[in-house]
Amino acid sequence: MHLSASVTLWLKPKNTRYAQDHNRQNGYSVHMDQQSRTSDEIGHIPVLADPIMELFDAKPGMIYLDCTAGRGGHASLVAQKLGKTGRVIALDADPANADFTRQRLSSYPCQSDVLHRNFAQVTTALDELGVDKVDMLLADLGFASNQMDDPTRGMTFQADGPLDMRLNPDIPTTAADLVNRMAERELADVLFQLGEERLSRRIARKIVQVREKEPIKNTLALAELVSSCYPPNQRGKRARIHPATRTFMALRIAVNEELMALERLLDTLPQIIKPGGVAAIISFHSLEDRRVKQRFLQFDQNDCAKRLTRKPIVADDAQIRQNPRSRSAKLRAVQFGSDMPA
Ligand SMILES: C[S@@+](CC[C@H](N)C(=O)[O-])C[C@H]1O[C@@H](n2cnc3c(N)ncnc32)[C@H](O)[C@@H]1O
Repeated sequence: MHLSASVTLWLKPKNTRYAQDHNRQNGYSVHMDQQSRTSDEIGHIPVLADPIMELFDAKPGMIYLDCTAGRGGHASLVAQKLGKTGRVIALDADPANADFTRQRLSSYPCQSDVLHRNFAQVTTALDELGVDKVDMLLADLGFASNQMDDPTRGMTFQADGPLDMRLNPDIPTTAADLVNRMAERELADVLFQLGEERLSRRIARKIVQVREKEPIKNTLALAELVSSCYPPNQRGKRARIHPATRTFMALRIAVNEELMALERLLDTLPQIIKPGGVAAIISFHSLEDRRVKQRFLQFDQNDCAKRLTRKPIVADDAQIRQNPRSRSAKLRAVQFGSDMPA
């Protein structure tokens, strides 16, 4: 298995803080696409775009699979490099983001297929398109800024909205369903295991007390309830994070079965990446990153793939200032070898 000169750069001993100035470096245009939309209209700034482009080293004729199309930011950057002969396949669980990316990619000369699909079903999606394996795969996990910023999606506690949190509006269970129907103990386990919320039992008890009088349907009602479980000195302006952050994260992960989807994708990688192809995953919390890290290590130990990032690549201060969401982003990548299973 050969590592290209550019990717060996990433075999660095420490967390690599990556300087990113999209508009000037490497000629990639992130903030303005070919139809001159601003980042405000697009609603999401792609994180760690420069290291991803270097890891992929995209060339005409290659096939790129974007498992999390979002607003098409990373997909557009790769599409620019693929010429007429390349192909972009993009999936998103959210039909609105899939539509947005489809429209955005239509201005590039490469073939593009954007499907409203959960990446847990990536093999079926590739089968449908008659594609066996791809050269590059990206999963930029979680939600896009446009989803978080829209109070009607119920992911934010900064504004009131229905307690929904579904990325895919076709799935039956919302966050309100979980909050109002789960047994107290089960709820506490979700908050502890998926949100690492240390006050999980206290919060679950309070939820059950409140919902006995009236169902909890809105984001602000839940956020206030969770805040009231914290001691006063941990819920004021001096608190490092809002007390409801972990509860909201846990519920979003549970509603969308995010960890199960990630596990399925990780299981599938060796079957869908070409020899020499690169898979990159950006995670935003430790539950995801731990899974990616362990699986990439196993691939490496089994001589199935080589880790291109021994420590995760993270954003530098300039990017964090420009895009605060990049603060928790961790990028890991592997390059598959020729001795992997067919
Ligand atoms: C961080 S955003 C991706 C942003 C994208 N890289 C860009 O530059 O515009 C994550 C996207 O992945 C989607 N998503 C999350 N989990 C998914 C899953 N299991 N299957 C498919 N899409 C998923 C979300 O709906 C969201 O649009």
